[in-house]
Amino acid sequence: GMIPESLDDALSMLKKRGDLARVKAIYLVPYFDNPAGSTLTKERAGEIHEIANRYSEHNKIYVVTDEAYRLLDFNQTAQPSLWAGDRNLNHTIVVGTFSKSYSPGIRVGWGILPPELITPVNDVKGNIDFGSPNINQYIMYEVLRNGWLQEHVSKLCDHYQQKQNAMLDALDEHMSTIDHCSWWNPGGGMYVWLTLPEIIDSAFDKPLYQATKQAGAMYVPGHYCFPKQGEPVQHNTIRLSFGQQTPAKIAEGVKCLATAVNSVLSIA
Ligand SMILES: Cc1ncc(COP(=O)(O)O)c(C=O)c1O
Repeated sequence: GMIPESLDDALSMLKKRGDLARVKAIYLVPYFDNPAGSTLTKERAGEIHEIANRYSEHNKIYVVTDEAYRLLDFNQTAQPSLWAGDRNLNHTIVVGTFSKSYSPGIRVGWGILPPELITPVNDVKGNIDFGSPNINQYIMYEVLRNGWLQEHVSKLCDHYQQKQNAMLDALDEHMSTIDHCSWWNPGGGMYVWLTLPEIIDSAFDKPLYQATKQAGAMYVPGHYCFPKQGEPVQHNTIRLSFGQQTPAKIAEGVKCLATAVNSVLSIA
């Protein structure tokens, strides 16, 4: 997750340049994030809250916590929302969606906002989307009122954990023999972040992607997931998703990818 020291450095640089007033919010995906599958530690979350407060000199710097994947926690670690570090909602904006925890097509989400933001956010939202689908809101209302969400989330977690394990097992089987390949077990969410040997570029127009596609698999090149400024882009990275395919297809896809990596390395 976000490194507080780097955030501090970035804000300090903006302050020196006289640009601090332009900073309105810090955006985080603290649990099983997209794309890396990483989770912010409680300690780092606390430091980020402190930094946001400290630099709120000209205006309040909000911490926007996008908790889309928080409930897809396969080990039931019961991570509290980042809201727990700012119970009075002084500067925390929590945004959530039922797209991941209930159904992708439901198009209903929710937010917990500091009081001063409720009216302006509702106004802007209404102008952007002309309102969320009414029938879907009734469906979610019934799901929540009857206590069906938790039961559904448990089923989803079992389901996705099998897929995650299929991916991790296949990576162990086919990639652990290739030097300088690394990944970790995210323990939740839908993604595994894969780092390949530095000489490999995973972009769509490069040999690895072409070879993988020819073998019958696809991936998201990692370079799309880096900011324009700051951390240097790592072209040898890939976001793997285990959300949609069956465990058997996931295993087959990882095998195709490993074959492609080996073939690119053999001619590099
Ligand atoms: C971090 C994060 N937030 C939000 C969303 C999308 O949510 P919704 O389907 O409600 O637009 C995604 C979807 O990929 C996501 O990865």
